Amino acid sequence: MGNFANRKQHAVLIPYPLQGHINPMLKLAKLFHLRGFHITFVNTEYNHKRLLKSRGPNALDGFTDFSFETIPDGLTPMEGDDNVSQDVPSISQSIRKNFLKPFCELLTRLNHSTNVPPVTCLVSDSCMSFTIQAAEEFALPNVLYFSSSACSLLIVMYLRSFVERGIIPFKDDSYLTNGCLETKVDWIPGLKNFRLKDILDYIRTTDPNDIMVEFFFEIADRFNRDSTILLNTYNELESDVMNALYSMFPSLYTIGPLHSLLNQTPQIHQLDCLGSNLWKEDTECLEWLESKEPGSVVYVNFGSITVMTPHQLLEFAWGLANCHKPFLWIIRPDLVIGGSVILSSEFTNEISDRGLIASWCPQEKVLNHPSIGGFLTHCGWNSTTESICAGVPMLCWPFFADQPTNCRFICNEWEIGMEIDTNVKREELAKLINEVIAGDKGKKMRQKAMELKKMAKESTRLGGCSYKNLDKVIKEVLLKQN
Ligand code: UDX
Repeated sequence: MGNFANRKQHAVLIPYPLQGHINPMLKLAKLFHLRGFHITFVNTEYNHKRLLKSRGPNALDGFTDFSFETIPDGLTPMEGDDNVSQDVPSISQSIRKNFLKPFCELLTRLNHSTNVPPVTCLVSDSCMSFTIQAAEEFALPNVLYFSSSACSLLIVMYLRSFVERGIIPFKDDSYLTNGCLETKVDWIPGLKNFRLKDILDYIRTTDPNDIMVEFFFEIADRFNRDSTILLNTYNELESDVMNALYSMFPSLYTIGPLHSLLNQTPQIHQLDCLGSNLWKEDTECLEWLESKEPGSVVYVNFGSITVMTPHQLLEFAWGLANCHKPFLWIIRPDLVIGGSVILSSEFTNEISDRGLIASWCPQEKVLNHPSIGGFLTHCGWNSTTESICAGVPMLCWPFFADQPTNCRFICNEWEIGMEIDTNVKREELAKLINEVIAGDKGKKMRQKAMELKKMAKESTRLGGCSYKNLDKVIKEVLLKQN
């Protein structure tokens, strides 16, 4: 082992291998680093390759006390396709079967390395529950990061009750359409005005052995009263839910919104160039935004996994064309199911002077640009918190996983968004865009979003609740045990 006179704490961080989990975990890594930790950040080989491709071959080298390692993801490589998000059920199944061994081998290798201090703690995505076993084997503290809202964590903890109550598996597919999804869920303490359709969408299954339900059962089973859990939220945002969760987990810490916490850390500029985007960013859109009036532009982005049918794409396209407002639309190369994105010349002519289409952008910068008036989003948790921190109201088109839950909070609890029907129609979309950008409801939503933004900033400033919670975790959980 290395001869370190004054040994640093060495945290190994491992995200679930998808963009929406890697981003906040890298932020967490930076926060730990700026508080003096040596960091090893573990990606899958597949994602590491994509990161190097999008950011340049040396983008992850040369940082003192901050290095990257990889483990295989156990999946057969997708032929010729290294620019897409992997299938969530496949990767989730592989995590349960294939990740523990290479992860333990990595920990052993790090502990024998003369270049880094011995590993002193793990910070792992709670979806990577094999790390709990690894932490036991290596006698390390393991802090679990849950990468969605507090509300989603609460639902995961009650998932088995949906089975016990005979709700899941659904008897047949008709349950999706016959009004069953409107059934109230009024038996989870802390949840108000929730319907089945607002619950984590993995419950919409007829399969008693559904891979994703099993995956979340395992996560819930591995949490216990001694678990230290970090949440990317702030107390005031989800106070009822937090109260319910605090009675289940004494060591639960809200440390979000992470990007707000990070942005208010003075030394952050040292790590500015360390990014986590798996797609290459188009920064020209920022210049384009400069030419637009304040609060006038609709920003459209469905995150890293959402896909849609060619018909839905057309409805979005013509809704945007018909609303007569400027828009920035991010269309990922793999956004449309079954093929490439085809938009007619009639559409491109129509929008040429006020619409910009790009394939990936620096979202936080875009959302904070003064010309943005509204965000048409799939309601991923990162997009939701980033929009709140920018004080931008939302139009919600939830796709899967936690997104229906986030959508319910955005539209009903916080009243900073309006929902678009899954079966999106161009007329409805154009109307809603006009409302959010120029209508009275849009104005009210913006005011409320600004109030939430202020609270988020308060919570993450020096001495704020989220700020103090991160310090507490470091002092009381990680440093105490070494
Ligand atoms: C996934 C899930 O879908 C989401 O519901 C869950 O809460 C986290 O994991 P994803 O669908 O990609 O994430 O959405 P989201 O949570 O919004 O994360 C996307 C991240 O990519 C955000 O941090 C966003 O800023 C970033 N992004 C997205 C960009 O930087 N540029 C883009 O063009 C698009």
